[in-house]
Amino acid sequence: MTGFVNVNGSIRGAQEATVSIFDHGFLFGEGIYEVVRTYQARLFVFDRHMRRLRKSAELIVLSIPLTDEEFRARIHETMGAVKAAAPKTDEFYVRIIVTRGVGELSYDPRLCPAPSIVIIVKAFIAQPPEVYERGVGVILASVIRNHPGSINPLIKSNNLLNNALAVQEAYRRGAYEAVMRNHRGELSECAQANLFVVKNGTIFTPPLDSGILAGITRELVFEIGPIIGTCVREQVLHDSELFAADEAFLTSTTRNLVPIVRVDDRAIGTAHPGAITRNLLLAYHHHAQELAKE
Ligand code: PDD
Repeated sequence: MTGFVNVNGSIRGAQEATVSIFDHGFLFGEGIYEVVRTYQARLFVFDRHMRRLRKSAELIVLSIPLTDEEFRARIHETMGAVKAAAPKTDEFYVRIIVTRGVGELSYDPRLCPAPSIVIIVKAFIAQPPEVYERGVGVILASVIRNHPGSINPLIKSNNLLNNALAVQEAYRRGAYEAVMRNHRGELSECAQANLFVVKNGTIFTPPLDSGILAGITRELVFEIGPIIGTCVREQVLHDSELFAADEAFLTSTTRNLVPIVRVDDRAIGTAHPGAITRNLLLAYHHHAQELAKE
């Protein structure tokens, strides 16, 4: 473990940072999180992450006592600690976690007087270049994505057992990621990323109603598609549409756009990153640098 952690305002080294065993985040998985990255050492689309954090909090009836600016100040202070210990760090990974807080062994939220606010900051480690150059293989996981009437996937919840099981399955089968179906058998998203397919020049991704996280990189794909002259549409997708796709890719804050070239050992398109995915990735880098200046 590397980096520094801000626990309720106090900064500790990654090895020393602790929270109470009676934190309901630890006991019951009652918490939410965001993963933010920097470009040019500036927090990237921070306002969008804060909006989603607050939406997740609302969906688990948790009130967050900090303003966006207070979060920003704590993050910058923690980034400063990372930089002081490792001056060569140029880009940062930031994980913001808000849990119900410390309380008795009960689901009663009134027994937790204050949420715990933890911010993990470490050096940002980019994916190896071959991930983008060659693309990756994924599996269709047997574990399904949470039913929206259960832990709604719109909540960026710390309760990640379902996702962890899907990733375990992917790793057992030598794959990079797991694509999860929803309770209706439609495709939803990957365990840690959103899913896109390209067919006949159009980019398709499952709608929020398919039970997915409203990914911020996904949102950016809708903004960048038209810039490269490609239409991006929400559409309910099934296994058959993934297998028949010309191209496929996944998106996340830490990975941007990663080409998918195999699903369950079956080739997608030419089994190489496709032209639209590559163009979109280039445009994404450009757009991200521009947005980072704001
Ligand atoms: N995860 N779907 C799921 C289930 C995710 O966990 C993530 C991101 C995404 C992509 O969202 P965004 O583009 O806003 O990062 C979609 C983060 C990066 C993580 O858990 O590390």
